[in-house]
Amino acid sequence: MALKNLLSLMVLLGVVGVSVARPYDNPFRNSQSNPQSNPGTMGNLDLDYYRYKCPQMEDIVRRVTIQYVSPKPTLAAALLRMHFHDCFVRGCDGSILLKSPNNDAERDAPPNLTLKGYEVVDAVKSALELECPGVVSCADVLALVARDSVLVIRGPWWPVPLGRRDGRISRISEANLPSPFADVNTLKKNFTDKGLNTKDLVVLSGAHTIGVSSCGLISSRIHNFTGRGDFDPAMNPNYVKELKSRCQPKDVKTIVDMDPGSVDKFDSHYFDAVDQRKGLFISDSALLNDWETKLYIKTQVWTGGASFNRDFAESMVKLGFIGILTGDQGEVRSRCDLVK
Ligand code: HEM
Repeated sequence: MALKNLLSLMVLLGVVGVSVARPYDNPFRNSQSNPQSNPGTMGNLDLDYYRYKCPQMEDIVRRVTIQYVSPKPTLAAALLRMHFHDCFVRGCDGSILLKSPNNDAERDAPPNLTLKGYEVVDAVKSALELECPGVVSCADVLALVARDSVLVIRGPWWPVPLGRRDGRISRISEANLPSPFADVNTLKKNFTDKGLNTKDLVVLSGAHTIGVSSCGLISSRIHNFTGRGDFDPAMNPNYVKELKSRCQPKDVKTIVDMDPGSVDKFDSHYFDAVDQRKGLFISDSALLNDWETKLYIKTQVWTGGASFNRDFAESMVKLGFIGILTGDQGEVRSRCDLVK
């Protein structure tokens, strides 16, 4: 009888579409690696975290993100990069968003000086504060805004489990992000230090399918690689020629596309570019120097990027779990740039 009642209840719940909660298992839960020193790392997140606390919140985030990114699609790249830079320093805790009166916060560190799109996060947060004050963390807002802005440019969708709390600390000295001059072993270590593996490295580097950089970061690579007026032999000479026509030796400002020929489109073309030795940075080209990353690149080239969107979604979910604060750790800020 008890079993019959239980079965009836399950059927009923199924019919009315009730799901009690959709907790999302932390991909690091059983892993040996400790992505970050935060004690909250092992916490779980939940796809329905705000279901009762702020039921409109995903709609609000999407609406405001579309409002900003549709007229200015280049913001999608900037916001995706911002989420990555948040997660790689002290975990995905919104610490990239904090401002310091002394200019010594994460956002003041050199790799972050070219981040853009803070105004989108702030606008989303303000809209949320009107609807449900003090409920939705800035770390969650950034994770969702990054996902939704990629959707605006017709990129892949990935689930964003929620419930991150905001960190109170943001230090310029800790903003040690992977370098565009790094070799593949260093990049692998950068990623394993955060609990991500070699596949995540090559898959997430695929984010360079969109966005831009500036001549300053590639100048030595194309004009004077070893101090003898040469260029990096890992580069395709025709690509070097193209880049040289855009970037004069002393020019640090002019913008260059990260994925030449397909910069606005979120697709697997980045892997074709790297395979043709047209990776913009040393760190892009370096992905051909490891058998696993090279095999992934070749596979995407051969299959027209058959698994890229799915792989990207999976790695983005993992990225979003790095060093999270949950429970009563950290805080939920009402303004993303100021601690409470
Ligand atoms: C693997 C190590 C990585 C290195 C060394 C690296 C380095 C860089 C550099 C130097 C830039 C240009 C910044 C500028 O000129 O202002 C850039 C841009 C960008 N990066 Fe990465 N990145 C890496 C991984 C990632 C990951 C994991 C993501 C996202 C999941 C990402 C997303 C982006 C995007 C979208 C841009 C373009 C930004 C824009 O147009 O505003 N990168 N990256």
